Amino acid sequence: MKEETYPDFLIKEYESLMNAYPEHPKLREEVSKILNDNLEEQDKVIILDIGCGSGETTKYILKESVKAKVIAIDNDKRMIDRLKDTFNKNILKENLEPICQDIFNYIENINDSFFDAITSSWTIHNFKKGERNKLLKEIYRTLQPGGIFVNMDKYVFDDAIKEKESFDEAVKKLSLVSNEKVSLNAIKHEDEDRHPEIIMKEKESALEMETIGFRKIVFHTRIGREVVMSCFK
Ligand SMILES: C[S@@+](CC[C@H](N)C(=O)[O-])C[C@H]1O[C@@H](n2cnc3c(N)ncnc32)[C@H](O)[C@@H]1O
Repeated sequence: MKEETYPDFLIKEYESLMNAYPEHPKLREEVSKILNDNLEEQDKVIILDIGCGSGETTKYILKESVKAKVIAIDNDKRMIDRLKDTFNKNILKENLEPICQDIFNYIENINDSFFDAITSSWTIHNFKKGERNKLLKEIYRTLQPGGIFVNMDKYVFDDAIKEKESFDEAVKKLSLVSNEKVSLNAIKHEDEDRHPEIIMKEKESALEMETIGFRKIVFHTRIGREVVMSCFK
């Protein structure tokens, strides 16, 4: 992972950062819709949401998959506290199990084929390539056969020119964030995501997942550097 934790000011200003990405709700809704379309017996299914943060995508999943149980995991207590605050006001909270733990410590103790579906948003691109590969293998192992993995994330263009153009676009957008500290931090983060040990490219990722065993890998809607990807075990 690039940074162990987010600075306090960024946790507090997370929503203002989200304003720089007005398209995210659409992508998050798509994650939830894809999950729902592929979950048959909703009252029995268990969904793992990796790096749930303050629950920006979790809330869409719970709205759409009303009977599914969602285990929402994040290693940052401040994020989990924010998620709990959000869902305390929400009647769907009985379907939600928030866990504050490192994903590796958690998932490595989970039995094979335990989850019906696994999802994540805006988290997996942060892991260094070796860690990411280890996590993808754990996702595969803990998914039940036929289970779906849906990830909304920064799968950048494989083509270097297109990648640079989309980076410049992102920087332009982030420069408009009114809180200067948040803006500069987000631009720095965007730049760090391009480091050779971190950068997550679309075709490279598809090949990596295919090698692990995932099938029917589909990249759905792309907005700038963000894409919704789904695949099956
Ligand atoms: C950019 S945020 C995304 C949050 C949320 N999913 C969203 O879409 O807004 C990435 C989240 O991953 C969490 N995270 C990073 N490393 C983690 C790890 N090793 N285990 C669990 N969560 C982790 C961070 O604390 C952070 O809340």
